[in-house]
Amino acid sequence: MIKNNDIMTDTFGRVHTYLRISLIERCNLRCTYCMPEEGVILSPRSHLMTYEEIYTIAKTFVDNGVTKIRLTGGEPLIRKDIPIILKKLSSLSVELSITTNAVTVDKFIDIFKANKLKSINVSLDTLDKEKFKEITRRNDFEKVYNNILLLVSEGFKVKINTVLIKGFNDDEIVDLIQLTKEIPVTIRFIEFMPFDGNKWNMEKMISYKEVMQYVNNSFSKKQVERLQDAPNDTSRNYKIKGYKGSFAIISSVTNPFCNSCNRLRLTADGQLKNCLFSLTESDILSALRAGNSIQPIIQKAVQAKFKIRGGMDTLKKLEEPKLHNQNRSMIAIGG
Ligand code: GTP
Ligand code: 5AD
Ligand code: SF4
Repeated sequence: MIKNNDIMTDTFGRVHTYLRISLIERCNLRCTYCMPEEGVILSPRSHLMTYEEIYTIAKTFVDNGVTKIRLTGGEPLIRKDIPIILKKLSSLSVELSITTNAVTVDKFIDIFKANKLKSINVSLDTLDKEKFKEITRRNDFEKVYNNILLLVSEGFKVKINTVLIKGFNDDEIVDLIQLTKEIPVTIRFIEFMPFDGNKWNMEKMISYKEVMQYVNNSFSKKQVERLQDAPNDTSRNYKIKGYKGSFAIISSVTNPFCNSCNRLRLTADGQLKNCLFSLTESDILSALRAGNSIQPIIQKAVQAKFKIRGGMDTLKKLEEPKLHNQNRSMIAIGG
């Protein structure tokens, strides 16, 4: 099949080679920064993509130049047909990975290996059992922590996603970095971002600059090494010299990395989002079910992509509740 990169190139010349597919809108945790306390209105089951539909849509993207697929949720591992989804997608010529809260990861080690997953991203915001319960509204710290160790011992490359919230976990930045002394993981500190129902405000956010202040207060300049970022990386990467792991900062709020964006998102109900912050969506699933080609829809969505954060190009716009409240909650986007 000839790759037609043109349909994946936007008006700013960015080529979209990375598709994030959300498999489910539900989760076995209830992180406060990700979903409203009362939950989200779930799509009727018939509106969700089946595994055959996921495969067909993913294949179209791969045929058009996508080289990397990440499965997200909600929590992707609670979807019953996840083994079939992994198997089908791993037959495509694509780098396949997953972002999970790791609560049930121990049950999937063999399936991950069988389907050639190499890199697993895990959400973990604190090393304190009680604080874990407070932020996730569930008591699963030990399971998650032990599963992270299990993934590492089984040879997976593990990145830990930590959403920083002022007064909640900023006092753990250095402890989390210390974890990388003996454990070869990357801890990624993420600036808290606004989505529908997550009670975001700028005061709760810990910025890239503030993270580096914590780092510089605890380590000397000589100890902190700036690493080369991968192309299209969302994070700025560092390590403490001599430590086995590394740390990084994802600064979507104060320092967006949209210039090198190569991402598209497919929601569990088959809507294409051309940006994490896009307020509009394109209905891929209905087109597929009607027997129509989805290629023109993809092309149109890519062409309509804004340069920065779905059009919220200034902090002032990002702070505007009227704008981000029109987006979905993170749990229904998939990060
Ligand atoms: P790698 O493939 O390992 O680079 O992971 P990733 O950063 O693409 O994926 P992950 O699911 O681990 O996401 C980590 C954090 O980055 C989450 O908080 C995401 O919301 C954020 N993130 C991922 N993609 C984007 C994006 O396109 N734009 C913005 N602003 N943030 C993103
Ligand atoms: N701001 C920043 N990151 C978030 N995530 C979920 N909600 C938010 C938010 N409001 C992150 C989680 C998860 C990733 C997919 O998205 O840490 O690991
Ligand atoms: Fe679930 Fe992840 Fe959202 Fe937490 S951040 S509620 S673990 S999808």
